[in-house]
This record gives sequence, C-alpha cells and structure tokens, in this order.
Amino acid sequence: MTNNRDLFTQELNQLLRDPNVQQMKKYAQHGGTNTLSHSTKVALASFDLAEKLGWKINEEELARGAILHDYYLYDIRAEGLSPYRHGTSHPKLAAEKAGQDFELTDKEKNIIRGHMWPLTLLSPPRSREAALVCMADKYVAFREMVLRKY
Ligand SMILES: [Fe+2]
Ligand SMILES: [Fe+2]
Repeated sequence: MTNNRDLFTQELNQLLRDPNVQQMKKYAQHGGTNTLSHSTKVALASFDLAEKLGWKINEEELARGAILHDYYLYDIRAEGLSPYRHGTSHPKLAAEKAGQDFELTDKEKNIIRGHMWPLTLLSPPRSREAALVCMADKYVAFREMVLRKY
C-alpha cells in the first residue's frame, strides 16, 4: 500500500466529530441523502481510488478537502436554485465558508473549488487529491442519483 489508511481514517474521524462539519447533516443532497453522508462517501471513495491508481497522496489534505468539498450549508430547494445554478456556484461558496471555519491549505481550498470541474471550466483540480475528489464525487453522485444507493 502506498498510502497510510490509518492516518486518513484518523483525520476523517476527527473531522466527523467537529460541530461545524456536523452541520452538513441538516442539508439534503442527491436523492434521499444528506451532505455529510455524501461527503463521507466521497472521502472514502477518494482514498480507495488513490489506492487503485497507485497515487501517493497527502492523507490529511485529502480527508479535509473531501469532507469539506460541499460545505455550502444551504438547502438547494429552499434557496430556489436551479440545478445548473447550484452546480456552478456552490464550489466557490463552499470554499469561502470552509475557509472561514477552518484553517485550510491552498491544496485543500482547490480540492473544494475544483470538484465540479469541468462544469466550472476555469477552476480545474490542480493536484492528485483534487482530481481524486472530482472523480469520486461524480462516482458517488451517480450511485446516489441513478442507483439510489445511499
Ligand atoms: Fe458539490
Ligand atoms: Fe459532492
């Protein structure tokens, strides 16, 4: 194994205990899930994908970026946003809000900012960690929206 799963899991569990992270439970996501459950799945899938591809990653940055990638903290339906509008605008908002509540590295900010690429054409993923979250988010969203697996 190239990466340290224990370190990744430890960071993930620490984040999941954070009251700010816990707020994401309140907000619905694709289908019948919530943003915290979705983001946890994206984090785990990102790490598994790194292992499959044999990509060396920074465990803490991957865990933090993945867990916070949808830290926009609003209800899409209550805000009256179209899926397109939400899709293009939430990465920037999530990066701003996460930046207020957590001390983030540039890589962690870009993981959040770049996760919807290529929809947000001008904000591409700029690291292996960001590319993994971008791919894992689509994989998890497909399972949630099409296969209804939560
Ligand atoms: Fe997202
Ligand atoms: Fe997501």
